[in-house]
Amino acid sequence: MAEERMLITGGQRLEGTVRVSGGKNTAVAVISASILSRTPCVIENLPNIEDVNVSVETLEHLGAKVSWDPKAGVMEVDASTICRTDVPLELCRRMRASSYYIGALLARCGQAQVPLPGGCDIGRRPIDQHIKGMRSLGAVVETQRGVVNARADKLVGGDVFMDMVTVGGTINVMLAASQAEGITTIYNAAKEPHIVDLANFLNSMGCRVKGAGTDVIRIRGVNTLACRRPYAVIPDQIETGTLMIAAAATHGDVTICGCIPTHMEALTAKLLEMGARVDERDDAIRVRSIGAHRAVTFKTQVYPGFPTDLQQPMSALLCTATGTSTVVENIFESRFRHLAEMERMGARVRIYEQTAVIEGVPQLHAAAVEATDLRAGAALVIAGLMAQGTTEIYNTHFIDRGYEHLEDKLNSLGAKIWRTRE
Ligand code: EPZ
Repeated sequence: MAEERMLITGGQRLEGTVRVSGGKNTAVAVISASILSRTPCVIENLPNIEDVNVSVETLEHLGAKVSWDPKAGVMEVDASTICRTDVPLELCRRMRASSYYIGALLARCGQAQVPLPGGCDIGRRPIDQHIKGMRSLGAVVETQRGVVNARADKLVGGDVFMDMVTVGGTINVMLAASQAEGITTIYNAAKEPHIVDLANFLNSMGCRVKGAGTDVIRIRGVNTLACRRPYAVIPDQIETGTLMIAAAATHGDVTICGCIPTHMEALTAKLLEMGARVDERDDAIRVRSIGAHRAVTFKTQVYPGFPTDLQQPMSALLCTATGTSTVVENIFESRFRHLAEMERMGARVRIYEQTAVIEGVPQLHAAAVEATDLRAGAALVIAGLMAQGTTEIYNTHFIDRGYEHLEDKLNSLGAKIWRTRE
C-alpha cells in the first residue's frame, strides 16, 4: 500500500466555531507525574494524540495499570504496581517527553534508566540542564552508551540555576524535587503555561510548589503524594494558535472556544499588526480577516514571547502577506525546514542562519510536500489551505503526534481535507 498522504484543496474560507483540545505538552508532563501518586489518578481533558499513546505504553511498561478512554479524553493511572525503572529505547525515540521519566522515577523509585530522548528533529536538544538539576538534589547521574542512569538513596532539596530557560529541564527538576527532603529552588525557570499546570497538578497531590509562572520556582518536597480528585489539563496553546492562524490564512471568521486567551497574547498582537481582527472572551477567541495581510517581523522567545512552536505555522501565513517579513528563530537551530517545502508551493524565502526573510507572494500553488516535524506539518496544512489546487502532505504521522483530529476540526469549519493511501 502507498504511503498515507493528507490532501488539501485550498481556497476554502473557514467559518464557524471549533473547540480546542487539551494541551499536548502539559499532558505528557502531567501523565509522567501521575507515577508519583500512591493512589490512582484520574486525568481529564487529554488529547487523543500519538504522544499520549506513547505515554500510556511507557506507564504500562513500568508496571502501572492504565485505563485510557481516548474518546472521553480521560485516563486513570494506578501506579501502585510499578515494578521497573527503565524506559525502552523504542519509546524514547518516539517522544521527547520520555526524559520526564528520569525525574519522576528518581522521585518515585530512587533510580531511573532512560535512553536519551527523541522527538522532533528541530535542532540540538541536549538535556544537560536536566541532569545538572538532578545532581544538585544529590542524584548520581551518568550517561553510558546513550542511556541516562540516575540513582539517589535520598534526594535533598537544593538550588538549581538553569544556564538557559528550558521547559523540559524545569519540568524534570520539578518532578525530581517533588519528594526531595526540604526546599528546591529553580532559578531562571521556564514560565510556559504547562509549567504552571504541572505545578497545579503536583499541588493537587499534596506537594508544595510556589512561583510557577515566574522565573523562580520553589518546591517543598513531601514524603507521600496522592491524587485525591480528577485533574483536567489546560487547553492546548499551540493548537489554539494554529487554528487562529488558519482562520486568518483563509480570510475566515472562526471562534475558537475552550481556550485561554491570555496564553495567546504574543500571537494575537502579531495577527492584529498584520491587519486581522481578534476578539477575546473569557474562554474563546474570534479571529476574522478580510483583505490582504501586512508583512511583520517577529522573534521566537520563551513565554510570554512568541512561541517557537507557532513560528512555523505563522511563517506559512507570512508567505502571502504584502511586503517582506523577517522571522528570527532563537530557540532551535533547524526550525525552518518547512520553508524549503513551501518554496515548492511558490513561497519566496531566503534563510540566513537563524533568520528567514519571507517576501510575500499573491498566491501559493499546490504541490507535493513533506512534513519534517510536527509543527512543520501544521505549517504545511496552513499553506495548503491558502494554496490554489490540491496540496499533498507526506509524513502525516508527525501531525498525529500533536494534533487531535486536525482535519476533522478544519473540515467542520469548511476546509476540504482528507487522507489517502492510493
Ligand atoms: C519543549 O521542548 C516542548 N516540548 C517543545 O515543543 C517546545 O518547542 C520547547 O519546549 C520550547 O518551548 C515539550 O514540552 C514536550 P527546551 P524542550 O528545553 O523542553 C536548549 C512541539 O512542537 N537546552 O525549552 O525540549 C535546547 O537545545 C515541541 O510541541 C539545552 O541546551 O525545549 C533549546 O535550544 C517541539 N540544554 C532550548 O534550550 C538542556 O538541558 C530550549 O529547549 C535543555 C535545553
